[in-house]
Amino acid sequence: MQKIVAPLLEWYDQNKRKLPWREQKDPYHIWISEIMLQQTRVEAVRGYYSRFLERFPTVQALAEAPDDELMKLWQGLGYYNRARNLKKAAQVIEKEYQGKFPEDYEILITLPGIGEYTAGAIASIAFGQNVPAVDGNVYRIYTRLHADASDITRAAVKKRIRGEVASVIPEGRAGSFNQALMDLGAVICLPNGKPLCGKCPAADFCIAGAEGTYDKFPKKPEKKPRKVEERSVFLLEYQGKYLIQKRPEKGLLAGLWEFPSQEGRLSSGQLHEFLEEWGCAGEEVELLGTGKHIFSHVEWHMYGYLIHLKQLSERMTEGMVLSGVSEIQSEYSIPSAFSMFLKKIAEGEGKSPQEPMR
Ligand code: ADE
Repeated sequence: MQKIVAPLLEWYDQNKRKLPWREQKDPYHIWISEIMLQQTRVEAVRGYYSRFLERFPTVQALAEAPDDELMKLWQGLGYYNRARNLKKAAQVIEKEYQGKFPEDYEILITLPGIGEYTAGAIASIAFGQNVPAVDGNVYRIYTRLHADASDITRAAVKKRIRGEVASVIPEGRAGSFNQALMDLGAVICLPNGKPLCGKCPAADFCIAGAEGTYDKFPKKPEKKPRKVEERSVFLLEYQGKYLIQKRPEKGLLAGLWEFPSQEGRLSSGQLHEFLEEWGCAGEEVELLGTGKHIFSHVEWHMYGYLIHLKQLSERMTEGMVLSGVSEIQSEYSIPSAFSMFLKKIAEGEGKSPQEPMR
């Protein structure tokens, strides 16, 4: 590992990606970027990052963020707990640290949503501390370099690799070193497909590169297949508006808005039972389309039914909001899982649909 440090830094100095969060060293900005980048590609993050900072330019503004607005700004990025934890951490910084962003890795890691990787990234990039920021990119680079077939999902293996990376951080350049590894992982040592070993500053020292066995590393145990859940989604239209409801405050997509849905694919008999139960039997029903949405542990296979209601019963509006398509798009945070149905009803109205942002 030690051997790659100098060529890696030289490569980084000449090739670093121009990214908005690299233009200054404001810890607040770096924190927001790191949280967004945790599960999302750089290109998808750019727009979200600037909109977020425009609306919440300071830790204080974030600590006071109205939940609905926060969720709306996050819409499409997924993993909404990241946004909730951002606000919680901002409140802790305001309350316990008098609004001053903590500098120490040991304090950063105690904040909601900040783990070893993120604490390391903020402490090294914003404050120049000598700590590593080891994520999946770094495990990939490390295991390829050494042709190390250890199982990187094991805590002991992660700890060992983290320790080795930490031991070679060049004094005074921790931020650049960590970001050099991020860039190498993103543009050269690619996770899928052939890495660009011909352009890699570490190629002379890389065993998997030399042997052409890059796709064997990192070795991961077989993943359990995701659970597949069929869902029926109801787009209940009344006089050009649609019924939406807030999801429960706990669990998947907590607190976001949705079209009412229920588990399972309904047979036509069940569909009529459903309509009857909701006091709208005999209404017009169209199969709007089918869609698939992949979460980390579950996959939804969705069947969308557009139902034109002639009247609204009390049973139907309980806990629901009746809202036009444009208003749903602009005012409510509807998770991407439902965006294909939203797009369909927007198209049906001849409105230009708002594309999901990733
Ligand atoms: N991925 C995660 N953090 C990053 C950063 N600071 N720069 C580039 N890519 C990243």
